[in-house]
Amino acid sequence: MRVVAAGDLTLVPQMAAHASEMFLVLGDPAIYEFENEPPSSVGWLHDRFLKLESRRSPDGTEHWLNWVVRLPDSRLAGYVQATTHADGHCFIAYILASAYWGKGYANRCVEAMMAELAGEYRAHTFWAMFKERNFRSRRLLERLGFSPATPGACARNSVEPDEALMFRPARAKDP
Ligand SMILES: CC(C)(COP(=O)(O)OP(=O)(O)OC[C@H]1O[C@@H](n2cnc3c(N)ncnc32)[C@H](O)[C@@H]1OP(=O)(O)O)[C@@H](O)C(=O)NCCC(=O)NCCS
Repeated sequence: MRVVAAGDLTLVPQMAAHASEMFLVLGDPAIYEFENEPPSSVGWLHDRFLKLESRRSPDGTEHWLNWVVRLPDSRLAGYVQATTHADGHCFIAYILASAYWGKGYANRCVEAMMAELAGEYRAHTFWAMFKERNFRSRRLLERLGFSPATPGACARNSVEPDEALMFRPARAKDP
């Protein structure tokens, strides 16, 4: 995995060494308005990050890629992540602490990650699943040019009734 520039933000391959700082970032309750919960302890997060350092699914067929988002002042703001499949389909996700919402940071980081995924991992279609009520996530995806998936694609990807699925082809300008 490479370090990826996203304007003045930097996507840094996530390591277990980021666990202490990320525990504080991920402790922001606003992140969990629609789903999930904060990590239970630094130790738990450290172990999880350590496992993810393999960058692969247990059967080796998928890349599991996680980048922490580093601000110009070197603090961490959140992470972006991707699961790439051998057939070129790629699922993405993203989390920033709420202090960093409303600045276009997520937009910039996800765009930079998708360019990296298209160029280095041969991703040709990006998919994102989120809770239907998560209007911030939907707005981010719409600004990035994602469209709602067809009912068939939703069924194939086991989308629950309270979830939404959107997709975007890789763009010609992605390297
Ligand atoms: C989803 C999430 C990443 C979106 O963050 P965000 O900051 O709203 O997203 P963007 O980076 O697109 O920023 C858009 C906002 O920045 C503003 N903005 C400011 N400068 C901007 C710029 N240069 N470019 C784009 N937008 C800019 C936009 O006007 C917009 O403001 P608005 O929300 O008031 O309309 C964030 O809400 C989050 O981390 N949520 C919790 C985790 C989560 O739900 N993740 C999704 C499930 S995987």
